[in-house]
Amino acid sequence: MNSPMIGGNNRVVSGMRPTGALHLGHLHGVLDNWNRLQYEYDSFFFVADWHALTTSYDDPTDIEANIREMVIDWLAAGINPSSATIFVQSDIPEHAELHLLLSMITPLGWLERVPSYKDQQEKLKEKDLATYGFLGYPLLQSADILMYRAAHVPVGEDQVAHVELTREVARRFNHLYGRGQEFEKKVKRALKNLGGKNKKVYLAAQKAYQEKGDATDLQAARTLVENHPRLTVADRERLLGNLEGLGRTILVEPDALLTEYPKVPGLDGQKMSKSYGNTIALRDDAETVEKKIKTMPTDPARVRRSDPGDPEKCPVWQLHAVYSDESTKNWVREGCTTAGIGCIDCKRPVIEKIEAQLQPIRERARSYEDNPETVRTVLADGRDRARDIARETMDDVREAMMLEYR
Ligand code: TRP
Ligand code: SF4
Repeated sequence: MNSPMIGGNNRVVSGMRPTGALHLGHLHGVLDNWNRLQYEYDSFFFVADWHALTTSYDDPTDIEANIREMVIDWLAAGINPSSATIFVQSDIPEHAELHLLLSMITPLGWLERVPSYKDQQEKLKEKDLATYGFLGYPLLQSADILMYRAAHVPVGEDQVAHVELTREVARRFNHLYGRGQEFEKKVKRALKNLGGKNKKVYLAAQKAYQEKGDATDLQAARTLVENHPRLTVADRERLLGNLEGLGRTILVEPDALLTEYPKVPGLDGQKMSKSYGNTIALRDDAETVEKKIKTMPTDPARVRRSDPGDPEKCPVWQLHAVYSDESTKNWVREGCTTAGIGCIDCKRPVIEKIEAQLQPIRERARSYEDNPETVRTVLADGRDRARDIARETMDDVREAMMLEYR
């Protein structure tokens, strides 16, 4: 359900590269958050398969399977296709077109300056990432975001620079192309959608502001547009831009919706990450979860059961920090430092908590594995919804850039 927008642009868009089986780090770092957002915002969540290609171009073998598996993990973790629009980036070729058009106006320096460009090249030294596609990674991301005129982009700290770039690109685009001849026509049509009485209020406020600099009624008119239940995002932006005589906001500047999430430690105490091989996957079976936790290293001081330890020096303690309540944590502190409990005892509640969390996810995932048609349908529906918006945006973009002859 794409809920009507109440109180302004209520849309969020976010993507994830299909990197293979998702793990607890993704669950608490991203999916818990998406699960919440999908009921508060008009949410677009997509698989960034072209982004995966920027680093896996030399071996794209797994991308197709990874897309499907990742979507199964999303659905199993609670992402709800009747609340959120779920789709695959490459199903909407408009992303590639917008990326190309934006590349025309994006100074090279803006891309070279994005910190992830040099960082990732350093980190993935075994790959040749001195490619055109990799330099363009954040601009493709800008196209993903601007396509849906999203107000917010829920991401982690590492992606903030990309959202910042997106804002700059949108601003530059609007500045260069914001005053096409079609604008007036489209404003007129949008005004009609606003309705008779509202239209009067709007025009009076606009006149007072633009002719006499009287801003008294401006906010009221703005609120009227923002709260109108039946305007499209495009119409809303047109009317808002027109109200103050700013011309047209073709592409909406988004902001990053930063999420503070618990850093989920991996089995070795480092951040949980596939590249460290220290993950618990969402679809690991009960036995595997138990074995992984049972073999986790603990405070090296606890050689024998009778040796006291220090939770601060133990990766298992970090899992307690995420999963355990105060009384369990007190039990660990007390038991560990006095050798009152053994490490196997200590791991038990963590195993149980994780198992309780994963069991229903695993079960739901199983039903999607058994019914691949369901996943295909979810992605086909998402593609159709996303495409309608993408087409509308591209119509406006082409018109603004005088490319309607094509
Ligand atoms: N670069 C993002 C990441 O690695 C994935 C991504 C691609 C994305 N396009 C996006 C995130 C658009 C938010 C919005 O996590
Ligand atoms: Fe770690 Fe718990 Fe063992 Fe202490 S008792 S070392 S916290 S596993």
